[in-house]
Amino acid sequence: MAKNKKITLLIKNIGQLVTMQGQVPRRGKDLADIGLIENGAVAVSGDEIVAVGNSDEIAGKVDLAENHTVISAENQVVTPGLIDPHTHPVFAQTREMEFEMRLAGKGYMEIAEAGGGIRSSVRSLREAEPDELYARARKTVNTLMAYGVTSIEAKSGYGLSTEAEIKSLEVIARLNENEAMDLYPTFLGAHEVPDEYRDRHEEYVDLVINEMIPAVAERKLALFCDVFCEDGVFTVDESRRILQAAEKHGMRSKIHADELKSTGGAELAAELGALSADHLVYISPKGIDLLAKANTVAVLLPGTSFALGLNEAAPAREMIDKGVIVSLSTDCNPGSSMTESLPMIISLAALKLKMTAAESLAAVTVNAACAIGRGDTLGRLESGLTADITIWDMKDYRELPYHYGVNMVKMVVKNGKVVVGR
Ligand code: NIG
Ligand code: FE
Repeated sequence: MAKNKKITLLIKNIGQLVTMQGQVPRRGKDLADIGLIENGAVAVSGDEIVAVGNSDEIAGKVDLAENHTVISAENQVVTPGLIDPHTHPVFAQTREMEFEMRLAGKGYMEIAEAGGGIRSSVRSLREAEPDELYARARKTVNTLMAYGVTSIEAKSGYGLSTEAEIKSLEVIARLNENEAMDLYPTFLGAHEVPDEYRDRHEEYVDLVINEMIPAVAERKLALFCDVFCEDGVFTVDESRRILQAAEKHGMRSKIHADELKSTGGAELAAELGALSADHLVYISPKGIDLLAKANTVAVLLPGTSFALGLNEAAPAREMIDKGVIVSLSTDCNPGSSMTESLPMIISLAALKLKMTAAESLAAVTVNAACAIGRGDTLGRLESGLTADITIWDMKDYRELPYHYGVNMVKMVVKNGKVVVGR
């Protein structure tokens, strides 16, 4: 244990401590290796973890700071704070009417082509004041945290003009500054082609490349750049051009890939060495082989198929067996997946993707950390890493997918401080 560090937070007598110590990232059989310790303890100094191990050993040794907190977690499960690596939290209005249209038989793309979908969110976001967007997104961010999440990736993508994309990314920056949640911003100007460029698709791609990306980079508003690579949205060639331009400005690539059809998005992700390829419901066999050899994280979003009323699911078992780095996310957005519950996604991953509780937990911690470029500091409970910790009101971590649709979070610790369940 790091000597002479005064302990500000001690969580002891932990029924099941899921440390995630081990390989970074987790592939194949290792995905189920969660580093479980029974009767565990975690000692924190400030915002840093300084000791993890057996409760009796640690509790006897620590040097407690004058102002310290001790939490006794008998019969509870403790995990790293969950990480949600794919969210669209900045929007002005919800789209429940489209949900009802889908119940009546309309398809997601059909609604989009008729002017609904992303373009309807664009119209309302452009009119909204930054404070209005902030107040709405703040609710989403804090609800995610109430469900055990301590870091998220957050996309723009409902502005689709230089001004409105910057407005969205500035909201994300403000949330990052003011709220307990850490947000990792992604520029998603290539989410859709806005109304005014409907007949000038090529010109919009040029605008993203020549104006938006430099403007976002200059203001240091995004770490990553994402593209909706899909039939009828952006082609593989356009996506490549956009992502390469963003890489030149220091943004790592992410891709909405093979969500509604097999379009070669996974292959492009492997070719570019993208940080993540997301959705992948229709990933090709070649795409699986390529991602298995790559360091790109496959972020699977079973809540999206669920909320779109589709039965198809990403071939998660095959991807895991072949060695693809698999993660999971809510895809929280007003169109295709209106949820802030990452635990609910873990239930869907069990039922739809046949992933075990252990695999899903590794997917939303250590592997999700890699999907936001933070595999070195987040997603595991290990000495020297950031003290982001979730305490669950359950005796066995396998209750997480099993006890579905209910919030089992007891407490959330962010940067060493209790922020939920004080
Ligand atoms: O991840 N696929 C594109 N983007 C979102 C949906 C956005 C929307 O419908 O507003 C997604 O599913
Ligand atoms: Fe998405």
